Amino acid sequence: MTADRIIDLRSDTVTKPTAGMRAAMAAADVGDDVFGDDPTVNRLEEMAAERVGKEAAMFVPSGTMGNLCALLAHTQPGDEVLLGSECHIYHYEVGGMARIGGLLAHPLPNREDGSIAPEDVRAAIRPQNIHSPRVTLLCLENTHNRCGGAALRVETTDALCAAAHEAGLRVHLDGARIFNASVALGVPVERLARGADSVMFCFSKGLGAPVGSILCGERDFIERARRFRKMLGGGMRQAGVLAAAAIYALEHHVGRLAEDHENAKLLAEGLRQFEAFLPNEPETNIVVAEVRRGTVEGWLRAFAEEGVLAVPFGPGRFRMVTHLDVSRADIEEALRRIGRAVHSVSTT
Ligand SMILES: Cc1ncc(COP(=O)(O)O)c(C=O)c1O
Repeated sequence: MTADRIIDLRSDTVTKPTAGMRAAMAAADVGDDVFGDDPTVNRLEEMAAERVGKEAAMFVPSGTMGNLCALLAHTQPGDEVLLGSECHIYHYEVGGMARIGGLLAHPLPNREDGSIAPEDVRAAIRPQNIHSPRVTLLCLENTHNRCGGAALRVETTDALCAAAHEAGLRVHLDGARIFNASVALGVPVERLARGADSVMFCFSKGLGAPVGSILCGERDFIERARRFRKMLGGGMRQAGVLAAAAIYALEHHVGRLAEDHENAKLLAEGLRQFEAFLPNEPETNIVVAEVRRGTVEGWLRAFAEEGVLAVPFGPGRFRMVTHLDVSRADIEEALRRIGRAVHSVSTT
């Protein structure tokens, strides 16, 4: 770390592939994956399916495409989908479920821990008659981004999946950061995903790969999803160079997520020392702070002038995310720089 290096805490998507990961990419055996011929993609899909305890998997360019393929493969146009009021699919995926899937989103209140009350799920399931849309899917998110990286407990997921399944709904789990949840809770990913019919997770976030996510589920569900991936323009050819990075990430970058979680705690504690900010108590790698004085835009500008980057995150809040490319020393340095920003804002 040099004194004037930018410390980029906007997201865990900003990581650059390590030398080891680049070497794995360069050495990847490849083929045309649309023909099913890429051995590295095939290996990644088998590995990922096994890790999450599902029959099959499909490599996709992004989490957004993985979620959309899942929604399309689980539903018919005109169906109603239950999801958390704060979830990524609802807020940040450009309304693809409505525009492309013809789906009706029914948001249910997300509690602070990222969960939804099972009674809210039960109450939202309409009696089926000629007037009502078919309610066919529940979406969950673990860890929960807008709920400050909260990790959903096994009991919570199980109770929600049971409520959905009793009424004949399927369950999709947006597990973009499910490995963070697994490390934070000390519970295998397979157990966290067990109740869900499908799970999507990302290699390009905390796991540090440059590109790629994966959708896992039953074999016939994945075959339907493959058609949707092709329709959305996500059929990739010699994608083994990307799959090799994802395999490397699964083999080398899971255990170290605990460091990111420690760094997020350190960052939140440091921010709490300034009365201008009220951060969450992060369970994983996401710090969300309320601004008690000044404006979010003003603070983000002051941080950027000191070489620390964060993003606005809803009214009166900003987000900072720890990741592979920031060390504990970087976080200590970021807090010193934030201290300078606070000092200069309060003296001008
Ligand atoms: C919870 C969650 N789901 C899905 C996504 C979408 O992933 P991508 O940016 O790869 O489309 C994100 C991205 O930040 C996310 O946080």
